[in-house]
Order: sequence, then structure tokens, then C-alpha cells
Amino acid sequence: MKTREGSSYSIFYINKSCTFCFIVPQRDLYILLRSLLVFVIQTDSTRVSFWVPESILNSSTTEMVVEDESNEMQKVFHMKGGLGEESYALNSKSQSAYLSRAMQVLDQAVLDLCTAGFPANSFNIADLGCSSGPNSLVAAAQITGIIHQKSSQLGRTPPEFSVFLNDLPGNDFNTVFNSLPSFQEKLKTEHGQDFGPCYVSGVPGSFYGRLFPSNSLHFVHSGQCLHWLSQVPPELRDKQDPLINKGKVFISRTSSPAVIDAYKSQFQKDFCAFLQARSEEVVAGGRMVLQFRGRRLEDPAPDESCLLWDYLGLAFQELVSEGLIPEGKLDTYNTPYYEAFTEDVRAEIEREGSFAVDCLETIVIPWDGCNGGVKQYDRATTARNMGKAIRAVNEAMIRSHFGGGDVEFVDRLFQKFGRIMVDDSKEVEHVSIVVSVIKKQSTV
Ligand SMILES: C[S@@+](CC[C@H](N)C(=O)[O-])C[C@H]1O[C@@H](n2cnc3c(N)ncnc32)[C@H](O)[C@@H]1O
Repeated sequence: MKTREGSSYSIFYINKSCTFCFIVPQRDLYILLRSLLVFVIQTDSTRVSFWVPESILNSSTTEMVVEDESNEMQKVFHMKGGLGEESYALNSKSQSAYLSRAMQVLDQAVLDLCTAGFPANSFNIADLGCSSGPNSLVAAAQITGIIHQKSSQLGRTPPEFSVFLNDLPGNDFNTVFNSLPSFQEKLKTEHGQDFGPCYVSGVPGSFYGRLFPSNSLHFVHSGQCLHWLSQVPPELRDKQDPLINKGKVFISRTSSPAVIDAYKSQFQKDFCAFLQARSEEVVAGGRMVLQFRGRRLEDPAPDESCLLWDYLGLAFQELVSEGLIPEGKLDTYNTPYYEAFTEDVRAEIEREGSFAVDCLETIVIPWDGCNGGVKQYDRATTARNMGKAIRAVNEAMIRSHFGGGDVEFVDRLFQKFGRIMVDDSKEVEHVSIVVSVIKKQSTV
């Protein structure tokens, strides 16, 4: 093939998933990028690899002019690392409360797996979206502990464990790795010196794609992650005609049905991609326990899903009216987040077809759950802690969209968030879904 200026480039068509390799001078890149809607997966000075989805190869026109954002999301999105005052590690008490409330479902799934004849000599566990901080290893400790005890009770030799901790590449894996010696020590103290061995590794990458070899996992856990979409829905990013969710950063009561549908459709695509990837990786009979923010109500914009995002939207609007950010910048900022309705989650699992639902429940934490269960109810304290928790999760994305280095801008945003929350009097419970599924026997 020839580019406009006559330089040649090679194309390797590798298989049906369509991996192309172009070798082109840099100046020709934009021509290729404009003529194909492609996903750049690797670059260096002379070589660029693209992944072209089959649907795009087969269509002659594209309806929307959007840039792929899932790669961008993978690069940008991360919880605030380290162990400082503003870190996720110190501001993840709500997530910890959800973990505790989902523990019964987790325990039951592990016990059922033992009853069904697992584990074998080696037992492989993945925690998807482990982040960093005190929650990262909680599920792994619980799962390995139960299997070790159960094996001992049954007079079997406990298996060797492999624990794979996954998160996006920007995650602070160093903090997690630094905590591993005390994790190993704690397991031996609790379960005896014959515990393990337990090999722990980090697996950076998106759980919306493949992360592990086929049929290699016995148990998958994911806590407080699957409400994070792979990208902002494309309809809200169409360069020529974006859906505008005026003054909001997420679904709200005033959002148009088109905005709500776009979010729902992105969730369905992502959740299906997640299930498909795991269906290749989890052995038949293997289990997954997934816990993520969701709705117990069919209403797509109940206060319990939207209130905190509304406060954040109002804080952004104040920054616009003070001239600190352009209105257009706010209009194009949307959070890649969705709270699915329980029955929609069940329907997606059934539609994808690889896993059977063993149990699906909602778990609820109180309005002030971010205070760590301490009943020090005082709206100002709750607002401050809530602001810190939301900031630890969202700051990287906010700074990437509104322009990088300005910490003061983020400080102001969250001061406003706190004040808006204190001035209001509404309280909502925070709801999550926990679902326990079993990998079906392969039908092929
Ligand atoms: C709110 S934190 C939950 C962390 C931890 N599981 C807990 O319970 O505290 C969500 C985590 O999911 C990760 N995450 C979001 N999207 C992801 C993706 N596509 N692939 C892997 N990790 C992802 C984020 O980076 C973040 O660390």
C-alpha cells in the first residue's frame, strides 16, 4: 500500500481480531488516523500498531466522530496512591464497609467451591481492581484462609495459592507490594506455619479485556470496581454533535433519556466484555463474587445514585460562574461511571450465558459510611470525609480533563463540594450489588 506522499507501509493482517501493523513516517500518521477509526495500541518512533474492530472494518461509514477513550482512561484513571492524608488508602472506608457486608456471600461461595471438590494442588485467585491500601488484600486473605482451614478439616493437604492482584497500569502497585511481607506473616500467624505457600503477583491491565491464560482461575473477586466504565459513553463525546448533560458530571434527574440510555448501553457493553473475558479464564465450576455500586430501584436517577454527583456538578458550576473554568469544558466532562439496576445485571449475566447466578443481593451502607462506622454524626464531618473519598477516586480524571497541574483548582472544587453538601439536608443510603456466579460447563 502507498500513502499520499508515496511512502510505502506494510500491513500484517494477523487474524479475525484484526491486528494491523503499519510502518510509516510520523507525518503520514494523521492520514491513516483520519481514514480509519482505529485504536493505537503501541507506538514508537517508526512503528505503530493498530487494533481495528471488525465492525468498523465491515462498515464504510462511521456515524460518530469520536476518539477512542478507553486507552486514555487506562492511562489516566487511578486512585490517589501512597499513604498520605489524601490517598485512597486513607479514604476508602466506604469501600471497606461494603467489603465487610459482602463477606457472607464471599464465604459461602468459597465453601461451596470446596464442597464441589476444589481445590486441587494449586489454587488460583484473582482480585480485579485491587487498588492500593488496606482493602487490597482483604478478599485474598479471606479466600485463602477458608480454603486452608477447610482442607485441614477434611484431612487434605492445603493447596499452593497464587493470588493475582489486578488494576489499571497507573495503580500504586508499589504500596501494595510493600504490604506483602506483613500480609504473608499475618496469614502464617492466623493459620499456622504450614499455611501456603501463597505467591502474589501484580497484573496491570484492564479487566474489560483478557488478563489471564485460558482456564487458569478458580476464584475471582472484584470489589467496588465494575461501576467504572471503560470510557465515557461515545454519544457524549461525539466531536460534531455531543450529547450535552448541562452542568452535570453524571446522570441526574434533569438528564435527558438519551444521556441515560448512552450510559446504560456503555455499561451493558463493558459488563458483557468483562464476562466474556472471564469466561475464557475461569475453569468450569469456578466462582466469581463481584461487588459494585448499583441500584435497587428501576428509576435510572434516584437520589441514592445521583445526589453526590449533583453536589459535584454544582461545585463545578460555581467554578464556571467565577470564570475559573470555561463552560464548554464542564459541558464535555462526564464521569465514566454507572450504577446498574439489579435486574439489569441479572439479565446481562443470563444474556452472556457463561455463568449461572448463584445469588444476587443488594448491600447498603448508611449515609455517613465514609466515616468508617464511627457514629460521630455531624454533617460537616461527613461532608469533609465524603469530599476526600470522592477526590481520592476522581482527582486524576478531573485534572486530566481540566488541565493538569493545578492542585488549587481541585482544592477549591472540593471546598465548594463540602459547603454545598453542608448547606443541603438530604441524606441517602449508599447501595451496592453483590453477585455470586458459577462458571458453567463449556458446551462446545
Ligand atoms: C474504588 S476502587 C476499589 C478498590 C478496592 N477493590 C476496594 O475495595 O477498596 C476501584 C478500582 O478499580 C480500578 N479499575 C477501574 N477500572 C478498571 C479496569 N478497567 N481494569 C482494572 N481496574 C480497574 C481502579 O483503578 C480502582 O483501583
